[in-house]
This record gives sequence, structure tokens and C-alpha cells, in this order.
Amino acid sequence: MNFSVTDNDFFKETSLLSKEEKKGTVIHKSPSNIALIKYWGKHGVQLPNNPSLSFTLTNAFTETKLHYQTKAENESKSEISLEFWFENKKNEKFEQKIHKFLESLLPTQPFLGFVHLKIYSQNSFPHSAGIASSASSMATLALCLCDLEKQLLNTLENKEEFYQKASYLARLGSGSAARSVYSNIPITTWGQTNAIENTSDLYASPYSLPIHDIFQNYQDTILIVSAEEKSVSSRAGHALMETNPFAQTRYELAHSNLQKLITALEKGDTKTFIEVVENEAFVLHALMMCSSPPFILMETGTLTIIKKIQKFRKDNNIPICFTLDAGANVHVLYPNKYKNECLDFIERKLKPFCFEGKYLKDQLPVNSNQ
Ligand code: PMV
Repeated sequence: MNFSVTDNDFFKETSLLSKEEKKGTVIHKSPSNIALIKYWGKHGVQLPNNPSLSFTLTNAFTETKLHYQTKAENESKSEISLEFWFENKKNEKFEQKIHKFLESLLPTQPFLGFVHLKIYSQNSFPHSAGIASSASSMATLALCLCDLEKQLLNTLENKEEFYQKASYLARLGSGSAARSVYSNIPITTWGQTNAIENTSDLYASPYSLPIHDIFQNYQDTILIVSAEEKSVSSRAGHALMETNPFAQTRYELAHSNLQKLITALEKGDTKTFIEVVENEAFVLHALMMCSSPPFILMETGTLTIIKKIQKFRKDNNIPICFTLDAGANVHVLYPNKYKNECLDFIERKLKPFCFEGKYLKDQLPVNSNQ
């Protein structure tokens, strides 16, 4: 599919856009996601150096409302006109960031210059919880932009094309956001791999292979170890992969881990699932530690929690495991059928290592209809 708005669509409609005032509102909601196979290292325009796979979350999401009104005939159509509100307050910092992003889209999405935009966005999770919101927020913005295009230019009628384009635009804002446009799909992949048909580096897709019942409604409890802003951004982290001596080995490992995970997901093999998922988390942080310059995003509490999870798993024979994002917080993953035992363990043994005792209960979406 062609992700640029074609001259044909555009010129057919812009004559109308200039003459007849159009206004309206579009609203979208996008979940956060947690990668099991990590994207770390990129090239070109936000293209991943390896395929990634993520679980979609349910309770952590961003909701965005976009109001648009076509500009008057005498107003410039080559500039972005934007007001951005976050959690009911005008937010200059986010406005600048989104303005820049929309400006970068103008050459391929020229309709963005024909409207005044007011965007209102809010997260379901606390702002100071140290949870990355770029994935859910860029995904929901991208969905709103696709709806805007649909309303203004009568394009993107086809549902699959609509979501592919939303994922494509979200990716340009933040790589992991490409995987957050599919709300009710439990697993998403992004990046070309021969292991899964129809995958692309340009956009993410709903996971199309069999998933065993044990992974239905899988639980993710997010332990807040630190609420501080990360000392090294993921943008800087990705860039450091360019000189990381283990980069090539890492990209190969991602492919073989993905293959193992696909089989484990199908067979319900929680042992292999745990091996792969924890390996991916350790490798991500090991790559940070052997970058030049090196950096550490884990905190003491992160390691204490990891060791306690591994011990609890061994002592109780419960398939609980952890994964990490680019930060200190720990995602604790376990099957729904062990929910009571695991939540009890988290409350008694892990909560003391959380920042202000904070943790968030989340899970994969139950419904798989988009
Ligand atoms: O989307 P970015 O550029 O913030 O990178 C995300 C990187 C990880 O969260 C560490 C891994 C991933 O695949 O989500």
C-alpha cells in the first residue's frame, strides 16, 4: 500500500476543502504494550533492525480527542496549526513535540496543512509512575490522523489499510507505538520475519499464528521501582547500538528467540516462554551496559525483585516470570489461572521494593475483535 496521500486523492478533495468549511471531532483509545522480543537498534527512518513481538495491555491506555476545522481560504496551507492539551491543561512541551512530528508528516500527508487542530489527550495511568506513554500516545494520535484523513478525503475505507497506515504513522512517532494501534488484539508483531507471513518493517500486524489457551488473558503486573525520568532516552539507546560490538549477534538472537517463542505460544510451553522472555530482558539491559558509553537503567530494587520472582517460581512450580522495558520497572507475567497466588506473592514480597508501594495490575485483552 502507498502510505503517502496520492496526488489524485488530494487534488480531488483539496478544491473542496478550501471552499466548503468542514469541522468535526474524532476520538481514539490505544493501549500500552510490553515487548517480549525487544526492538533495540534501528536504521533509516525508524526502521527496526530486528522483528519484535509484544503483549497488548488493557488497563494502561491513552485516549485522544482531535477537533478539526478547515482553514479559511486566505490562511497558509503549508503550516501546521495546533493546540495541544494534556490531562485538561494546555501543554507547551508536548505541543512542540507533536507540532514537530506533524510537520515532518506534511510532505506525505499534505491535508494536515488544511486544518486547525486541537488535540486533547489523557492517560489512564498516573503521569508520575515512570511508565512510558509514548507507545499508547503516538498510536492514538496516529489513529486520529487516519480518521481525519478518512473524513476529509474519503480514503482509508478498508479497515486493514486504515490500521496499517495508523501503525505506519505511529511508528514514525515512536517505534514501539507501531504495535499499539490494535486495541483488542492480545499479541502484535512488528518487523519483517520469515517466521510470520505478511510482516513488514513499515508497520505492525496482529499476531496471526496459533496461541495456546494458557496465554489467554495472561496477566501483567507492573511494579513501579522508579518513577523518575530515565537517565538515557530510548532514542539515545537505539543510537548506541550502531557502535555496540554485540549488535549483530543481538539481531540474530532476536530472530531465533522469536522462532522459539512462536512455538512456545502455540504449544503452551511456559518453560520455553519464560526462558525466552527473561533472556530478552537480560540481553536488552546487557546491551545497555556494554554500550559505549555504558549505562544502567535497572535499580537495586529491580534486581531484588527479579531474584525473588525466580525463587518463587522454583519453590512453588508456578510459571511466573519477568520482563523489563528500557527502565527500572518490572513487568511480572503469569497465567490467569495462577492470579491469586501471584498477586498474593506480589503484595507480600515484592510490594516493599516498589516505589511508594506502587504497582499496576494489567492483563491481555480478552476479546480478540478489532
Ligand atoms: O519505541 P521506542 O523508540 O521508545 O523504543 C522502545 C524500546 C523498548 O521498549 C525497550 C523495546 C520495545 O520493543 O518496545
